[in-house]
Amino acid sequence: MKQIETARANLRRKFEKIEDKNAILKDSEFKALFDGIRGIEPDKRSEYGKAINDLKTEVKSWIEESDEQDNEKEPIDVTAPWDVNTPKEKRPNFFNTTQGSIHPITREISDIVDIFQRMGFVVEESREIDNDYNMFTSLNFPLGHPARDDYDTFNTDEGLIAPAHTSTMQNRLLKKYKDNLANEEPIAVVVPDRVFRNEDLDATHEHTFYQIEGIFVAKKVNVGNLIATLSAFMNDYFAQNLETKLQPFYFPFTEPSFEFAIERPDVLKKNDSEEQKWLELGGCGMIHPNVLFEAGVDPKTSSGFAFGFGIERMVMMKNGIEDIRHFESANLKFLRQFK
Ligand code: PHE
Repeated sequence: MKQIETARANLRRKFEKIEDKNAILKDSEFKALFDGIRGIEPDKRSEYGKAINDLKTEVKSWIEESDEQDNEKEPIDVTAPWDVNTPKEKRPNFFNTTQGSIHPITREISDIVDIFQRMGFVVEESREIDNDYNMFTSLNFPLGHPARDDYDTFNTDEGLIAPAHTSTMQNRLLKKYKDNLANEEPIAVVVPDRVFRNEDLDATHEHTFYQIEGIFVAKKVNVGNLIATLSAFMNDYFAQNLETKLQPFYFPFTEPSFEFAIERPDVLKKNDSEEQKWLELGGCGMIHPNVLFEAGVDPKTSSGFAFGFGIERMVMMKNGIEDIRHFESANLKFLRQFK
C-alpha cells in the first residue's frame, strides 16, 4: 500500500508538469505497480489490484478536471477554421508574422487617421453602397445638374449607388454631430473609406480606391483655418515642411472651392520647373451654406471647411509607387515589400 501511495505522489507531480495530460495513463509508474503484483502474497493480491485500479480511476478524474478547466479558460471559437479537437501545436498560426502582412493602404490609413486624431478629429466610416440623396441632392447637386457627370460610378437596378466620393457622409455627419455646436464645440470628423468610379484604368486611375474626407464646422471658420489644418497634416504625414498651394476649382458642395497641391516631397523631386513642382492631392473648400442648411446647421451662425483626398496618391508619393493598380492586384511581390 505504501508503494501505491508513493506512486500516487509521483504521478501527481508529473501530471502537474506535462502538457499532454492523457499521457499520464501510460506512465511507467503504472507498469511498475502492475509488475509488482507478482511480489505480493496471494491473499493480498486482490486488495492490491483494486488499489491500483482505484488509483487509475483517480488519475482519469484528474484528466477530466483539467479538461474542464481548459474549457473554462478557452471559450470555443466556432468560427475557427480547425476542429475543436485539433491540438494547439497543429493549429495554423495566423499570428505568424513571417506569413502575410498588413496591406499598405490599411497601414497608411491608420497613420493618417492617427495624425487627424491628434488634431482633435473623430473618425467615422463611410458606406460602400448609398443613395442619390447622400451622393448628390444633400450635396447641392440638384437633379439634372451637369456636375453629376463628374462622378460617374456604378448603380444598382434599384437605383442605389456605389459612392464616388466620401463626401456622401457629409450630410449624415453634420446631422449626427450638430449638437456639438450648441455646446460651443466644433464638428471635426474624418472619414477614410473606399470609393468607386467608372474609370478607364491606367497607372493613376483605378475603379476602386480610398479617400479621406474631413469636415470641420464651428463659428467663424475661414479659408486660413483650412490651409493651416491641411498643411499641418501634410507636414506631419510627409515628415517635412512642404509648401502648399490652393487653386480655384468648382464643386457644388463647397464655395469657394479649391484644388489642393503640395510641393513635391524630396523623394519625388524631379527638376525645378514650375509644372513639375506641384502635386495635386484633392479637393477642398468652405462647405456650401446649402449643404449646412440641408443638414439643419444654421449657415448664418456656423461655417466650416471640407476636404477630400485620394489616399493611394499620398501613399504612392510617400513610397515612390509608380502604378495605382498594384494596390488591388493582390500581387504578393508588391505586398511583401511593405512588411
Ligand atoms: N469629394 C470631392 C471629390 O472626390 C473632393 C472634395 C471633398 C472637395 C470635400 C471639396 C470638399 O472630387
